[in-house]
Amino acid sequence: MESSEFAELESNGVVQAAKEHYEKYDNVTVSENPHPLYGDYEDEEDSMKFQLQKHIDCITDNPDMDILVIFEFQRTIVYLSSQQAFKDFKSLLPKKIDRSDTEKLTFGKVYPDSLEMCPTSSSFKQRYNLFFRNTPFKKPESQVGLMLLVLEQYISKIKKNKAFDLVETIGSCLYDIVLTILFGEEFHKNIGKINYKYSDGRKYKTKFEEGLAQVSLDCIENGSDITSGLCPHINLKSEVDPYKRDQENIDEIYRVLTEFLTKNDTQSEFSCPLMGDILDPDSIKDYDPSELKNDLFLLIDAASGTLMLTIPSVLLTLKRNPEIWDKLYQELEKNGVIEEASKKNAFETDEGVKTILECEYLTYVIKEVMRLYPPTVGSSPYVANEEVTVCGVDISKDTQIFLNIASQHYNPKIWHNPLEFIPERFDPESELYYIPGTEDPRPVTSFIPFSFGKRKCAGDNYAMTALKVFVAYILIRVEFKIESKILSNQDYILGLDAESSLKVTITKKYG
Ligand code: HEM
Repeated sequence: MESSEFAELESNGVVQAAKEHYEKYDNVTVSENPHPLYGDYEDEEDSMKFQLQKHIDCITDNPDMDILVIFEFQRTIVYLSSQQAFKDFKSLLPKKIDRSDTEKLTFGKVYPDSLEMCPTSSSFKQRYNLFFRNTPFKKPESQVGLMLLVLEQYISKIKKNKAFDLVETIGSCLYDIVLTILFGEEFHKNIGKINYKYSDGRKYKTKFEEGLAQVSLDCIENGSDITSGLCPHINLKSEVDPYKRDQENIDEIYRVLTEFLTKNDTQSEFSCPLMGDILDPDSIKDYDPSELKNDLFLLIDAASGTLMLTIPSVLLTLKRNPEIWDKLYQELEKNGVIEEASKKNAFETDEGVKTILECEYLTYVIKEVMRLYPPTVGSSPYVANEEVTVCGVDISKDTQIFLNIASQHYNPKIWHNPLEFIPERFDPESELYYIPGTEDPRPVTSFIPFSFGKRKCAGDNYAMTALKVFVAYILIRVEFKIESKILSNQDYILGLDAESSLKVTITKKYG
């Protein structure tokens, strides 16, 4: 929608009418601030109070809201925020509420034909199955060896006592892994370097996976989206800096990848001979090439973009909580992870891999980081296909709807001392596992970093496995330090909606 059309809507009083409509309900919070969940970078006072912290404030200030309504670019956006709202949502998906094609609602045309945006119809199932049924993304245990091999290559190259950006390095590593899973080991030999344009305006030749990590971070910082950029749709933001530079870099990545994928096949606009190893060749045959292209890019980005922030987020939180680090280290020792790492053929057997994957306290630590600092505060966009009622609130047709991922994460009626970092709350043996003052377990939708239901994150298994493997291996393989001013600043939080850089220095390497 053009901005002139928004202005017209506003002058027609449409936004005012929507405000008045939602303000009628006691269980709705209508925010005057267009970014209550994301902070306000323009405000100097807020500059150190990052986006996620704003989100926590908004939720703790309004603990009983079912729905949060904001108005962004004169558009009504509804965030479903309570257990009851989630229940209603489940009963309305997919007929009355379903994925939103953001084309109509946001800047230009944004990846409308990727798996993430497609409606929950039979075509969704087919596309979902192609990438996630019986593939390494659903059964990631088989990829632990590859993950460790690549991670070790990166660690051995890092110079001691020299600060580097952990997010960027882990990002390159993750892209390296997902590209190898998708296109085979030959990928890195055959893909060319890319010409990356940096913010100083100069272009340097960069390794493909490093360029991907860099552009992904630039896009996160600039509030745009790598997936939208990788798909060759019009994105109005690309007309102005810094999006223009993002777009140039994305075009370059797209050009090099397309060249690689079409090298062996002159018939097809876009084909991937190597993908047959993990994807069913018969299914690929029936796949619309444009959809395949978009799904592939979505997958490359989804499998790395969130994890590159979550892994450093766990490490940062452990540095801030040394007693929990010690407890975790003891578990790694007890489970034989450290002994396994010292072997010549470390982690090459299923038993070796299990030493990491079966560490329960490690799982609790990772979950607790994702509860307190959810990597993303909102779901992907949904839309009301007709007028719907959620928690007694009427929501008109075409309204954009998100699930408020973190809304339940800080609810004191569900969690003991919700703003404290206590991994034990995920241990069924602990009394903190239960709803305060009861013996009842928490509702399933009280912890939803991957969202829930039919359209929850498709890569949650892969994500949890990669998180465990990376965190355990980094803890036992290196000692590192983080600047004390970052460690002491509790508002410095990593996430898609928060900070996206973490400078660290490796001081010692083991093994
Ligand atoms: C810490 C890591 C991750 C987090 C926190 C995360 C979170 C999410 C969330 C919140 C959604 C939106 C769900 C909704 O709209 O209701 C999503 C969607 C998705 N994620 Fe993830 N994700 C992570 C890692 C991954 C990985 C590793 C992959 C791939 C291997 C992946 C693939 C996807 C896909 C394909 C979708 C779209 C699913 C659909 O539309 O049905 N994600 N993720």
